[in-house]
Amino acid sequence: MFHQAKWNEPLIIERSGNGKRGHTPARPSDIERKIVGADAWNGVPKALLRNGPPPLPEVSEPEVVRHYTRLSQENFAVDLGIYPLGSCTMKYNPKVSEAIAQNPKLEKIHPEQDESTVQGILALMHRLDQFLAEITGMSRMSLQPVAGAAGEYLGALIMRAYHRSKGELGERREMIIPDSAHGTNPASAAMAGFNVVVVPSNDDGMVDLGALRKVVGPRTAGLMITNPNTLGIFEKNVLEIAKIVHDAGGLLYYDGANFNAILGKVRPGDMGFDIVHLNLHKTFATPHGGGGPGAGPVGVRKDLEKFLPVPLVSFDGKKYFFDYDAPDSVGKVTAFHGNIGVLVRAYAYILSLGPDGLKAVAETAVLNTNYVLSKILEQSKFELPFSRKRKHEFVLSAKRINEQTGVRALDIGKRMLDFGLHSPTVYFPQIVDEAMMVEAPETESIRDLDELVEAFLKAAKEAETDPERLRSSPHNTSVGRIDEVKASHPKTLTLKWNNPKTRGQTP
Ligand SMILES: Cc1ncc(COP(=O)(O)O)c(C=O)c1O
Repeated sequence: MFHQAKWNEPLIIERSGNGKRGHTPARPSDIERKIVGADAWNGVPKALLRNGPPPLPEVSEPEVVRHYTRLSQENFAVDLGIYPLGSCTMKYNPKVSEAIAQNPKLEKIHPEQDESTVQGILALMHRLDQFLAEITGMSRMSLQPVAGAAGEYLGALIMRAYHRSKGELGERREMIIPDSAHGTNPASAAMAGFNVVVVPSNDDGMVDLGALRKVVGPRTAGLMITNPNTLGIFEKNVLEIAKIVHDAGGLLYYDGANFNAILGKVRPGDMGFDIVHLNLHKTFATPHGGGGPGAGPVGVRKDLEKFLPVPLVSFDGKKYFFDYDAPDSVGKVTAFHGNIGVLVRAYAYILSLGPDGLKAVAETAVLNTNYVLSKILEQSKFELPFSRKRKHEFVLSAKRINEQTGVRALDIGKRMLDFGLHSPTVYFPQIVDEAMMVEAPETESIRDLDELVEAFLKAAKEAETDPERLRSSPHNTSVGRIDEVKASHPKTLTLKWNNPKTRGQTP
């Protein structure tokens, strides 16, 4: 049985003690002092020294290391077990990519350095742009956006710039988004100033073409869609969808969060998409972190290149350089050039797999997911709404279990933690009652997949035999059931420690 570490670890500030030091720089020798200057014996000129230390916890190095190691042991991670979070593609991040990104020659460079001293990273960015453009069927990519949602927002800005250049922005204010879409799609469109028009799914879980035709028209700026969609179903009418939107003068945006399913198999550019984002932190196996750092590069077809953010990295035949020659650009969307460490990892991932390896990623992800799906459906009361074949993820409904036992999808997800697995995504997409969205990426072995199936079956059985055990789960984790509403309500959360000495506030 799985048991997570439980440390009752205090805040680091509570470990603080006056005068404790993590690291004391050695006093320089006389000769070093002569070279550096008498003023700079501790490395900082006197004129730049603060008045006293900053109000930070004073702790020794082992205390810091143990504190954060203990906290990490109270967490769940892809390095600990299967993380079947549908839509998020939580796959294992290869250590070779980590080692390359942590090479000091890459890690220590600064974006303000002279271009002549950073030709290597510029070459990498230029090649990554080309790789991703080839993989997606686009013409050029911006590597700046630092998340999928940031890519969507940039995509919407590019749509604005495109319609403005044609003198149609005043009229084209509507962004069409399917009802199965991720919440960031309407949010990004609204932030870019568009009105969101929702188009319903049909009985097969795909965009309802009749409904789409009704809402498309001269007010349409574009359509944002992911394919396969969030139900894991490939939108087989995508060419028809593209035609409907293009005929009306709109643009087609590809939300690449589900690209893992079709990597190396089908290219959004060939499906008729004009603008694409990729979630490198999903498909290209770079770390997700807690809300980042991620990377959501955006690619466009040829005639939209001029709207991409500045600078792109160009090559003049002799050297790589930051290219600011783009009068129609929407401007910058991030400080400097994006999350470079993430871009390096994705570059390493692409090179380590090669074209055949990338194709195998999609094939294995789809196989793994369908293996898990068929085993669960065969042996439990979970249901699979919509009848079409699934790609890299599926959305089960725990509605029947809920009706018969009172146990909810949330309870089942929480119980999974007791079995040493992360919960699937729950209650998304919203068009499925008691939704449980599962993705079993290519990095999982058949033993891991069987463990995942087993967890579903055990939980479904317990719903009948011991529902209270599920409702009060998780039991084996460092933190038990939390108040979900409170936990996601920014006003009631205390996200930072306020130093009572400097701010007069209690922690
Ligand atoms: C379908 C879909 N679109 C967009 C996003 C947004 O991506 P990000 O979390 O990188 O901002 C997600 C994230 O989970 C997603 O699943």
